[in-house]
Amino acid sequence: MARIVFVNGEFVSEDEAKVSIFDRGFLFADAVYEVTPILDGKLVDWQGHFERLKRSLTELNITIDFSEKYLLDLHRKIINKNKLNEGIVYLQVTRGAADRDFVFENTLKPSLIIFSQSKEIIKPLLVNKGLSVMTSQDIRWQRPDIKTTQLLAPSLLKMEALSKSMDDVWMVKDNRITEGTSNNVFIVDSVGKIITRSLSHDILGGITRAVILKVAKESGLEIEERSFTLEECYSASEAFITSSSIFIRSVVRINGKLIGKGKSGEIVGSLISAHLEYCKSHLT
Ligand code: PDD
Repeated sequence: MARIVFVNGEFVSEDEAKVSIFDRGFLFADAVYEVTPILDGKLVDWQGHFERLKRSLTELNITIDFSEKYLLDLHRKIINKNKLNEGIVYLQVTRGAADRDFVFENTLKPSLIIFSQSKEIIKPLLVNKGLSVMTSQDIRWQRPDIKTTQLLAPSLLKMEALSKSMDDVWMVKDNRITEGTSNNVFIVDSVGKIITRSLSHDILGGITRAVILKVAKESGLEIEERSFTLEECYSASEAFITSSSIFIRSVVRINGKLIGKGKSGEIVGSLISAHLEYCKSHLT
């Protein structure tokens, strides 16, 4: 069934949704986005996603006059119109449309699109099949902390992993892991300490990452935010990734080498439960 999507002020069927060919999002990837998970027909951690959207817009100097209430209301309408119970809502703001030019006016009217994708989030979590990843050079632009739609590098890297029967790529910069193609990465050392790269211009500040660190701390787990090498990954007892569309997933193989016991471990198991509890109490 055709979805109802939101495009620049209107709800329309997905077959009728149109944006200008001159939209700078289309011509220059001059756009930012958010992916908010939906559980039980409600938004998970809306506040975190809205705050990050504001940050991304500020970094690109895109000024919007949509209020938080307006955007939240649109998300709820998209959920209701599409009877979405579990999945994600995608929002994209572009700088707007203008004849193609590297120079832009600051007076452009930003475009706003929102659509939903129905997707199982909880079931794969419970199955928790361990993933297999490969590593590759981080070839993205130098500001992946801004959630822009410049996603060709991660998309091509992910395709390369799939062509080699692996699930994803962990990207490497200066011999240190940055992040997955669309997720933050963590390892657990031999004494149970969780290690994840600290926030900087090199990685996206994941909303799920922040919640995982919070619930891990509350569960008494030790955390260290710092860069780590591939060798450290190989000697880790567990490894995992986090994102809004998958929550948490164990990584059990890196470049063909088994991590820990080669299956999802205890720490990931406890984080899955603690994170789900958190999500259920932060629904909007
Ligand atoms: N991706 N790092 C990158 C490069 C990402 O693209 C994402 C999310 C994350 C995790 O962020 P969060 O926990 O806020 O989802 C980290 C989304 C889900 C996507 O592009 O579909």
